[in-house]
Amino acid sequence: MTHRRSFGAMAGKSAVVVACLAALSAGIVAQDKRSVKTGVYTAAQSDRGQALFRSKCASCHAPNRFTDDLFYTSFAGKPMWEMFDVISDTMPEDNPASMTPEEYVDVMAYLLKLNNFPTGDTELPVGKDALSAIVMEKP
Ligand code: HEC
Repeated sequence: MTHRRSFGAMAGKSAVVVACLAALSAGIVAQDKRSVKTGVYTAAQSDRGQALFRSKCASCHAPNRFTDDLFYTSFAGKPMWEMFDVISDTMPEDNPASMTPEEYVDVMAYLLKLNNFPTGDTELPVGKDALSAIVMEKP
């Protein structure tokens, strides 16, 4: 009886520890998220992105395709990784996945500039973890 009760108490404690660790890591992830309103790309990067946009995207898209409600419905409130995933997988539509990750991210910096999001000191990063921590918004 005593043995059973102490075993129960131990199991209860480890469940609490697991729950605390889960809450802690969820808290860290939430804290690390940054909005695109906090300066997540540089001016030089969006300039490079603009040049790429002109050569790789403008034949099919007017810039205002990326400041309309359709665009926000697709991407606002979502991590920038989702935008990267869509664009790098499917665009340019006539030659998908033909650009480097750095080039796709530069074009995305230009899309942020089109939306008047502020520039900052660090470039919009390449990579799933880094882009997952930055959240697209409607301006
Ligand atoms: C050959 C034509 C063509 C080229 C070049 C092209 N696209 Fe597209 N793109 C399309 C079509 C067609 C669609 C689907 C219709 C739409 O959403 O406008 C689309 C859709 C998109 C979407 C989805 C928009 C949404 O709201 O879901 C994004 C983002 C996008 N393109 C970005 C780009 C970028 C960035 C480039 C340049 C690297 C590019 N496209 C080059 C034809 C093209």
